[in-house]
Amino acid sequence: ALKGISNSPHHRRRHSSHGTPQHNRPLKREHAWQDVSDDDMEVKRSKKHLSTPSKSGRNSDQPRKKPRLSAPAGTSHASSSKDPSLQKQRKELPIYTGKDAIVDIIRQNDVTVLIGETGSGKTTQVPQYLLEAGLAGSGMIAVTQPRKVAATSLASRVAAEQGTSLGAVVGYSVRFDEASSADTRIKYVTDGMLVRELLGDPLLSRYSVVVVDEAHERTLRTDLLIANLKTIQKIRNVPTDAKGKGSAAKLMPLKVVIMSATLEAEKFSKFYNKAKIVYVKGRQHPVTIYHTSTGQPDYVDAALRTFFQIHTDKPKGDVLIFLPGQEDIESLDKSIQLYANQLPKDACGVLICPMYAALPPSQQAKIFSPAPSGMRKCILATNIAETSITIPGIKYVIDTGKCKEKRYVARQAGTGFDTLLTRDITQSSAVQRAGRAGREGSGFCFRLYTEDAFRNMPLTAEPEIRRCTLTSSLLQLKCLGQDLEELDFMDKPDEETVVSALKTLFLLGALDNRKALTPLGRQMAAFPLEPPLARTLIASTELGCTSDVLTILSVLSASSHLFVDTHDARDVAADARRKFRHPAGDHLTVLNVVRAYEDVTAGESKAGRREWCRRMFLNERCLSEAANIRAQLRDVCAHMGVDPRTGAGSGDREVPVLKALVRGLVQNTAFLQPDGSYKQVMGPSIVKIHPSSSLADKKVPVIIYDELIYTTQVYARGVSAVPRSFIAEVPVFQQRTG
Ligand code: CDP
Ligand code: MG
Repeated sequence: ALKGISNSPHHRRRHSSHGTPQHNRPLKREHAWQDVSDDDMEVKRSKKHLSTPSKSGRNSDQPRKKPRLSAPAGTSHASSSKDPSLQKQRKELPIYTGKDAIVDIIRQNDVTVLIGETGSGKTTQVPQYLLEAGLAGSGMIAVTQPRKVAATSLASRVAAEQGTSLGAVVGYSVRFDEASSADTRIKYVTDGMLVRELLGDPLLSRYSVVVVDEAHERTLRTDLLIANLKTIQKIRNVPTDAKGKGSAAKLMPLKVVIMSATLEAEKFSKFYNKAKIVYVKGRQHPVTIYHTSTGQPDYVDAALRTFFQIHTDKPKGDVLIFLPGQEDIESLDKSIQLYANQLPKDACGVLICPMYAALPPSQQAKIFSPAPSGMRKCILATNIAETSITIPGIKYVIDTGKCKEKRYVARQAGTGFDTLLTRDITQSSAVQRAGRAGREGSGFCFRLYTEDAFRNMPLTAEPEIRRCTLTSSLLQLKCLGQDLEELDFMDKPDEETVVSALKTLFLLGALDNRKALTPLGRQMAAFPLEPPLARTLIASTELGCTSDVLTILSVLSASSHLFVDTHDARDVAADARRKFRHPAGDHLTVLNVVRAYEDVTAGESKAGRREWCRRMFLNERCLSEAANIRAQLRDVCAHMGVDPRTGAGSGDREVPVLKALVRGLVQNTAFLQPDGSYKQVMGPSIVKIHPSSSLADKKVPVIIYDELIYTTQVYARGVSAVPRSFIAEVPVFQQRTG
């Protein structure tokens, strides 16, 4: 047996009796997936399936000889290079039999709601069917995804299926990254990117079809999009005889397809005036579900034990473990490796593949390729693997029952903030997670929570619009001449959150005291940054420090942290970092790090750079991503007539940089209290400086910070000390005191 894990709750399942200590109780076999899925409480599986013209289609290997209506530019040459094995896979997908019916329904209706189980082929196939049927003849097909990593990985899959390189016929566009060209007909985008495109093109005139995928997730951006698409259709889809004057009359009609893996279809359909609902029958094999008999507070440890129980006892088949976030994934990754190394030489090896939002595209590929023979693949994923991406080969699912959710923590009207909280999943998520084990054959799902816990979970999650900050969305809507309060949404936002967003935008100078958009507000919306950061950037142009501010903002916008969090080598890491430390705090420390990295980059090889980052306990991924983001922000600046080099290489950077930061982070200021804690200037919260900050054990009169993190107490992260006089210079404060 493996050292340290032989006492696992599940490992001992067979030998244990009722006398075992609570956490060692065996997993109770509950019921088979089939029972679960027939249960009304969970999945209302529709018996309606697509009735296709040829029911025999699935067995017939004859390709449909239907001529393409209009060959879209750039695809005609491609068909010859299409990989036959990929084409075979496409035809084997459950959705393939419904191909013609789906195309016909979409052709005939302005809005179609398409429901189908995860893995049936919705996301990868429907856009290609529409392309091949000529629906992208005069405009592009946009397919929205809530997550960046899903958009990029799906685009590369579909590009491969089309037999072209990524960025040709099939491309993607996500914040700070894009692969597309004049030939692009299908574009996978994040929902946020398409909302952003509305600002420059309010009727989305470049698109003939917008596919809103993963609609059941109800992200804020998806909801904004769904509302706007309804308005756009009213303008673009006027019957031909009613068309006459106006530029909109020249636009082609817009097709909207709402896709979802869960059965919340009626609500979408109702919103779009009883839009047509199409169900795609999936192929789901039975999944046996186990619950623990007691709760597992240390879910990472419980997942570790369960994994090795499966690995040592169960026949081959890959394992998918659902965890809430990147930190847990990285910690479990290390533990599994540690124990896997102790396995006997002849035992089956373990290939660990992490999958989370910040994973760079270069590391995504190994998730989809089969494990080498004699290896078992173990995928550690966030809820991204619930419905957004389908990973082949999974036979076992371990579900910790946890996810991370962005939530607005309101302390008092108008003073809340968003924070990522780890919380219990919903029943709908639990069902989806279990379902991942039954894609290719019967499977097993080990839930690290009790059956009672499952029953007590909410059925579905609350839409994001009801629980997140609306500042950036409100600004974008203002630019479109719309009001958050008046737009026709599927669910209306909370009054309190709207008030808070209005207040923030007023403080930043984006709105005037009659809630009208100011020229500054319009300028802020043009940057792909949250309003406070956009305000900082604009301030930097007046203060002559744009170059340095761009550097800081790009590190803040990167998806991973700059400093490697090391529990084991904290002192060594602190020593290594000391030489970058700036007395004013974290923002200028970041600047020092980037400067040092640039020096190293100039003189060192790739390996040398990596080694330097390792020695300094810096995250190279963050640094290289930030360099990329910086280049893009620089382009936006140039486009807006701002010289991005302002202040580069000049002497005293501290004063202007801090002043610019104060402008944007005006709401994130706090004053020192006699007891050493800090009190928010604009709100009632008492905050402490996060231990990771270079100011952690310092007492300074005034701080500004990037964000608050809510754990056992409220911590400010990304902190700088600023003179009180800088705060007094901000116009709102002058109005207050004057
Ligand atoms: O959207 P839906 O869940 O209905 O399915 P999909 O994402 O279109 O996936 C259809 C099939 O393509 C699945 O069987 C996946 O395993 C496969 N696929 C893949 O092999 N590699 C990818 N990068 C994406 C999908
Ligand atoms: Mg999908």
